Amino acid sequence: MPPDPRAKFSSELRSALQDDTLVKLTLGKPRLHGADLRNVYVRPVTLKSGKQFSFVYRHATRDITKNHSIEAAANEVDRLLSDDFLDAHLSTTAQQAQLEIQSNGARLRIKQTDITAMVGEHNKSRHYLIPTNSPWLKALGITNDRDQPREGMAGKLRQIQKFAELIAQITTEVDLPPERPWRIADMGCGKGYLTFALAALLENRAEVTGIERRADLVRLCNQTAHACGFAKLNFVVGDIGSTALNAPDLLVALHACDTATDDALAQGIAAATRAIVVSPCCQKEVRRQLGTPSVLRDALRHGIFQERQAEFATDALRAMLLEWAGYRTKVFEFISTEHTAKNLMITATLGGPKHDDALANRIRAFAAFYGIQSHALATHLHFPLRPGAVSSTHTTQSTNS
Ligand SMILES: C[S@@+](CC[C@H](N)C(=O)[O-])C[C@H]1O[C@@H](n2cnc3c(N)ncnc32)[C@H](O)[C@@H]1O
Repeated sequence: MPPDPRAKFSSELRSALQDDTLVKLTLGKPRLHGADLRNVYVRPVTLKSGKQFSFVYRHATRDITKNHSIEAAANEVDRLLSDDFLDAHLSTTAQQAQLEIQSNGARLRIKQTDITAMVGEHNKSRHYLIPTNSPWLKALGITNDRDQPREGMAGKLRQIQKFAELIAQITTEVDLPPERPWRIADMGCGKGYLTFALAALLENRAEVTGIERRADLVRLCNQTAHACGFAKLNFVVGDIGSTALNAPDLLVALHACDTATDDALAQGIAAATRAIVVSPCCQKEVRRQLGTPSVLRDALRHGIFQERQAEFATDALRAMLLEWAGYRTKVFEFISTEHTAKNLMITATLGGPKHDDALANRIRAFAAFYGIQSHALATHLHFPLRPGAVSSTHTTQSTNS
């Protein structure tokens, strides 16, 4: 009989605690909807009394930290999984294990990757994932001969490093095919800063394609990729909405203008892409439509509030529509506004419930509140935004790799 997933997870955790290979453990998905305790984060710490494990209990409004010895830490995790949480991510220097507890049993996934080790090492030492002496950084004009950021490029370099961290983390969170190179598409890749970062980070793992409508940039990027010896990095001229993709495993679209972000999201959803990462740019489509609920009238006299409301409404709808399409989403600030005003990031990983009617109704209520009649992603998904509007079920093609 296969081992019980919870018992196996507990044993993996005990080994990691004892062998000193734990990088971090995250407990999430509270058992009770609206529970005050949202997450628990565990990592090793060295105190005067010796090796301990720091537990950060993240509540809705505060964090509480407690340290536990090996045995107490293992017991505490068992207790938390019985009483409070349904999900656990264990990172050790050798592997990633994810335990998901469901009503009909538990599921444990374990995978071993080089990236895991990289992230682990990175978390321990705060080393950069992209070495600052990388020739491509120099070729793209980001660093100088002393491997330092050129004038005005420090923010860009920080953005690249942050992006690399995020992607490395995502590759440990989703099921990427172990048997073939991962396919990555960067849509609206511009000068290719982040496309090169993807290729450098995952050099032995992934084939990366940058898609960009400006032929001059594509030419330059291909020349640089060739000169810097990237065998699996390629740039093509194309439009985000219409370029045929080879079922990417990971799709990225950062700062693509207005509804180009929706075109990219739709391409990813259609291909059942495992992970999608977008950082929206401008939100013109929705801004034109926004109504002014009477309670907001005074506030919305100010243009900046209108703009922020358009951003909020556009991107909130994107996140909700992604959830409706079967993705789990996270929305967060990618990098400090000091470096770029366009810093909202939406990450979506395949694997949530799909086409939930109650969610569909909430999406429509949200759109109605803001007076939004059309949204490019809803259109792509054939999702009727107005109550009662007829639409055949979504016709976006889905392919499972
Ligand atoms: C602001 S730049 C961002 C570049 C890069 N993604 C980054 O974040 O560093 C946006 C790029 O997307 C390209 N772009 C915008 N809409 C596009 C579309 N529909 N198809 C292809 N490229 C597009 C633009 O030409 C431009 O190079």
